[in-house]
Amino acid sequence: MNDKIKKQKFPEPKIIDKLNEYIYKTYIFRAGLELNIWDKVAKGWDTAEKIAANENWNLPGTQMLLDDLCSLKLLMKRDNRYHLVKEAKCYLLSDKPAYRGKFLIGEFLWEGNGLLAKSIRTGKRPIYYNATKDDVTDLWTEMYVTYLTDIDDFLKTYTQFWRKFAIEPHAGMQILDVACGPAPCSFALAVQDSNVKVTLIDWERILKTAVDFASKLGIEKQVKTKKGDLWITDFGQNQFDVAFLGNITHFFSPEKNIRLFKKAYKALNHGGTIVIDAVRHEYSLPRDPELWYYAHSKGGAAYDFEQYKNMLEEAGFTDVREVSKFPIKAVKL
Ligand SMILES: C[S@@+](CC[C@H](N)C(=O)[O-])C[C@H]1O[C@@H](n2cnc3c(N)ncnc32)[C@H](O)[C@@H]1O
Repeated sequence: MNDKIKKQKFPEPKIIDKLNEYIYKTYIFRAGLELNIWDKVAKGWDTAEKIAANENWNLPGTQMLLDDLCSLKLLMKRDNRYHLVKEAKCYLLSDKPAYRGKFLIGEFLWEGNGLLAKSIRTGKRPIYYNATKDDVTDLWTEMYVTYLTDIDDFLKTYTQFWRKFAIEPHAGMQILDVACGPAPCSFALAVQDSNVKVTLIDWERILKTAVDFASKLGIEKQVKTKKGDLWITDFGQNQFDVAFLGNITHFFSPEKNIRLFKKAYKALNHGGTIVIDAVRHEYSLPRDPELWYYAHSKGGAAYDFEQYKNMLEEAGFTDVREVSKFPIKAVKL
């Protein structure tokens, strides 16, 4: 062996090997989703032979895929037959309300099928879909189903969320929820007091989900909707106590956020509070990387607290504070 190589000590490539493993696992999962494997097993086609014969697929390939999905714990094998695990029964069967398959197949393309490096070189984006457009609302609604199934859990979580801000429901309280989705956060206040009123802004199809959700909670009379593009919708003037912007500002450039904060400022009463919950640079998670927001928007980013403070102050807000790890609040004096 060459002397130089013998003396050189290589670091253990653990991190790289782990990522290599994820690459393999990810593509096995993708094949499983694209082939709707869980639907086949649910039909009772519980061997590779049955699936391959019914679908006219390659038998060794089918066998390998099923076994690899077992090693990922997305299927289970007993007595030479494949069975569904509980997560697959809930999220991977295409006829179930919480089916995530369509969304997840989309996620494999989040980097534009190999366009991320080019986009970083050129700055050209979005590279797959623009998350702030009306035509992706189906993807959001797929994700929102879990809110409808875990009502108690989310009410508990979001009740605590407001407590951290010392924002308590009270008679006559008016909340503006911009880009509301199914509006779990503002509904957590509305369910506590029938005098709390919520105005929701989002695309029309999303608002339908939110109103369904409000009916399930028995608060539909407290809810008003304004459908359409938040850049066009009039937020009103001096009429809200709280303006909530949840998981939306990381899709916009700083200039656009200042515009949005100015609209919220105008809509708030004096003494009113804006609350922003967003993926932040300081706390971006490997599961939720900043680049995802880069890829799915024209100018979005996971901004840090200082950047939010500057944007909010530029829009007129004062007393900008980070309340707990993620959310930020500021006041209209
Ligand atoms: C990530 S979801 C956040 C939902 C909710 N605020 C939450 O925190 O759970 C983003 C929402 O913003 C809405 N949205 C994005 N761009 C919009 C636009 N230009 N006009 C109206 N709604 C928009 C989407 O339809 C989606 O429901």
